[in-house]
Amino acid sequence: MCGIVGAVANRDIIPTLIDGLKRLEYRGYDSAGLAVVDSHNELDLRRSVGRVASLEGICESVSGMTGVAHTRWATHGRPAENNAHPHTSSSQVAVVHNGIIENHNELRALQKEQGFPFSSETDTEVIVHQIDWHMQKGMGLLEAVKTTVKELDGAYGLGVVSKQEPDLLIAARSGSPLLIGLGDSENFIASDMSALIPVSQKYMVLEDGDIAKITSDSVEIFDQTGAAVEREVLISTLSDEETELGGFSHYMKKEIHEQTRAITETLEGRLGADSVLELPFGDSAREIFDKTKEIKIIACGTSYNAASVARYWFEEFGIKCDVEIASEYRYRKHVVNEGTLFVTISQSGETLDTMAALEMAKTLGYTNTLCICNVPESSLVRASDLTIFTHAGREIGVASTKAFTTQLVTLLMLAICLRRRRIGDGRTSDSMEAEIVQELRTLPQQIENALDLEDDIIAMSKHFADKHHTLFLGRGAHYPIAVEGALKLKEISYIHAEAYAAGELKHGPLALIDEDMPVVAVAPNDELLEKLKSNLEEVRARGGKLYVFADANSGLESDDETMVLKVAPVNNYIAPVIYTIPLQLLSYHVALLKGTDIDKPRNLAKSVTVE
Ligand code: F6R
Repeated sequence: MCGIVGAVANRDIIPTLIDGLKRLEYRGYDSAGLAVVDSHNELDLRRSVGRVASLEGICESVSGMTGVAHTRWATHGRPAENNAHPHTSSSQVAVVHNGIIENHNELRALQKEQGFPFSSETDTEVIVHQIDWHMQKGMGLLEAVKTTVKELDGAYGLGVVSKQEPDLLIAARSGSPLLIGLGDSENFIASDMSALIPVSQKYMVLEDGDIAKITSDSVEIFDQTGAAVEREVLISTLSDEETELGGFSHYMKKEIHEQTRAITETLEGRLGADSVLELPFGDSAREIFDKTKEIKIIACGTSYNAASVARYWFEEFGIKCDVEIASEYRYRKHVVNEGTLFVTISQSGETLDTMAALEMAKTLGYTNTLCICNVPESSLVRASDLTIFTHAGREIGVASTKAFTTQLVTLLMLAICLRRRRIGDGRTSDSMEAEIVQELRTLPQQIENALDLEDDIIAMSKHFADKHHTLFLGRGAHYPIAVEGALKLKEISYIHAEAYAAGELKHGPLALIDEDMPVVAVAPNDELLEKLKSNLEEVRARGGKLYVFADANSGLESDDETMVLKVAPVNNYIAPVIYTIPLQLLSYHVALLKGTDIDKPRNLAKSVTVE
């Protein structure tokens, strides 16, 4: 999704802006641009469609000490040079913007009457004209931005520069993340701290309504009432090591293989001898869990799939659990039972729908809020009562892999903590908890074993590369695992993939079965295995081709119509984590054969900060 970088310094900032944009490429974008105030005090604007490398190619002769840069992921207006940011007005002001301005049509009509020419189809252009308009009426840049944001409805993270005040960078935030990176006689803004790794470790997070006046040696922040405020200075732990490919062909492949370490780190410090610890969920976790009678989980995409798996665990443990997609939750009425803990799950912690659902939930009488997140400095973390981090490390591939499996592990730990209140005093663990804890300890090794299936999966992937449609089947907690497998395949290989609870086949989708529709199934050795086998027979009887990831003791064997890859026997509670791995590898290798842009699939963004 869109990325912002800005800088004000006593040196040429073009290399920093370009480097920052490259570091944000993983978020997904379709065009890029920058504007600096040059040595003649003129705004120099450069924009191009496609990769940041193309922008770099047209910036060789540009230099400046104050400027803003942007990667755009199209929302209003197609990907085109004139729609790329920054947008300028009267060659005086330049603006980069993340978010959406909902009253842009009204403002546009007004500005047309005032004589402003429009050169783009974007909602952003109204912001820059509005700032320009206020400056033409005599305001300074800071006042003009303050006045303009009051006239905007919607979400924004803004970086603004003007040739009239060449040493000044203005930042404003409402609903879209924005940080200020602090340097030595130079300061920066970014939508994501990873953009600033080489230039700044110290940073401040702007809160909604904040506007910052930034020069090379000062930062002043004003809240939405206009009062000067201090924001905490934080230290970033991000490093370049996390962003290097390290010999892998793609970030997605690297991240699939990093799951052993990611899960080890997610479990670290969270398991006692035979119990799951509660303190890692926050100082008030014990008190909040004591009050919790049921769970409501909200998330999007892959994070939603993790929540859907967890529902089986919570309910197995006797805890009512309801799971819903954030964008649906936001727009309907709710009945909230007393003692309901509201849980959000998000890799990025910036997904707008999830964030908005949390804000709405706070008005509805939930007991407390808990966030499961991978990014410590994110909006969702700051807005929640309790937080537990998935220590997946930075995930760069747009298709989520290690973030998903670490979410699963974290959800299982949460379910176990709440189960203790169902089986006893809430403090003492039992033999079943001790058994799951031992299984969790061996999980990293079991993931290694699952990764060893890769060579067989490479052979399997050849059967998919020329297909246009696939079906994924699973039952119980492995139904959402099938959904996640289908999501991965469609995201990175562009093959249409649908997932069904296998028992649903005969209620419709069986009509689709033919030899051009490969059917992928996950078959752990659980209480639903025999039912699943019957469902697979229904596919075979109609000439379907089956590709099954099956427990080594399931009794399922390969033949002419069926390819079975055997997965080492695994405990039922952690099986969903293990069966995810071969599905990720299958998607990756099918996409590799198809030659798609695996780490940056078309039309997708890593962090979805618009509705
Ligand atoms: C798919 C994927 C997305 C995200 C979704 C929510 O591979 O990554 O479906 O899961 O956009 O993002 P987060 O987890 O950051 O809230």
